[in-house]
Amino acid sequence: MDVGLAGKVALVTGGSKGIGQATALALAREGVQVAICARGVEALQQTANDIQAKTGHKVLAVRADMTSLEDIQRLVATTVQELGGLDILVNNAVNSIPGTFLELPDEAWVNHINVKILGYVRCAREAIPHMIRRGGGRIINIGGMAARQVGHLTNSNGVTNAAVANITKNLADQVAPHHILVNCIHPGTTRTPGGDSGATGAGHGGQSGRGGTGGGPAHPHRPDGGARRHRGPDSVLGLGPGERHHRAGDRRRWWRRTRHCLLNGPGFSSSGNGGHSHD
Ligand SMILES: NC(=O)c1ccc[n+]([C@@H]2O[C@H](COP(=O)([O-])OP(=O)(O)OC[C@H]3O[C@@H](n4cnc5c(N)ncnc54)[C@H](OP(=O)(O)O)[C@@H]3O)[C@@H](O)[C@H]2O)c1
Repeated sequence: MDVGLAGKVALVTGGSKGIGQATALALAREGVQVAICARGVEALQQTANDIQAKTGHKVLAVRADMTSLEDIQRLVATTVQELGGLDILVNNAVNSIPGTFLELPDEAWVNHINVKILGYVRCAREAIPHMIRRGGGRIINIGGMAARQVGHLTNSNGVTNAAVANITKNLADQVAPHHILVNCIHPGTTRTPGGDSGATGAGHGGQSGRGGTGGGPAHPHRPDGGARRHRGPDSVLGLGPGERHHRAGDRRRWWRRTRHCLLNGPGFSSSGNGGHSHD
């Protein structure tokens, strides 16, 4: 579906896997010039190649760690230099591990906050001057349903997602005069390498079980222990064999909301500011 985004430039953080990867693919299919970043170079380059093969659009892959201001400054500068500007920022990267309140160590809290809250803040701060120069822009912050519903293994998800919602509203009010709309999307549980919600019923922002990237305890309520399954970009979009129905539903809801947040304003076509949208 052509929603008039062709020619825009977008940066998707954490774009090598999961929801970020699927977002980058969906944007490229709309004719948007996309840059993606993550720490792992191999998965990053693989995703860029896959998206190019599927859409015919070259994707810029830049290695960047969201905990490093220097990396983020270089990421935004490279995107602007290589793609000619920046219109859309999708803040999405996350790195979390699950744990009960008493189990979760300081390092896990600090890392989660550093990547998901400060990473989003740093990226927006670097991107906004370029959007102002272009006469406007869009920032989409990926939160998670844990912002509103507590889960005993996902306390740090709840805290970071609630902070993302708060920052979104604050920033939306401040940059609206520059025609920059800032919105927050709270995905429900979504099967991704990190969230793996389909296997566990949890996910980074899910409500009940574990969430997180890079391992963690087995799911206590499932016989398979919540074993992870990795799939390519189309899998989050609901195109994988055998799971079409469930994930096609995810795709429609999630991309409809993302698209809605991208529209409107100068150079864009419709929509609101400072909102939350969730499954
Ligand atoms: N999946 C769910 O059920 C669910 C539910 C609600 C909300 N969400 C939210 O949706 C977003 C995406 O979740 P997901 O499940 O798609 O995650 P994911 O599959 O774990 O992917 C995370 C992405 O972030 C990158 N990343 C991790 N740490 C990073 C760092 N320090 N700097 C730069 N990139 C980093 C990862 O690549 P590297 O590791 O190579 O850096 C990867 O590309 C997150 O904000 C999450 O909280 C997810």
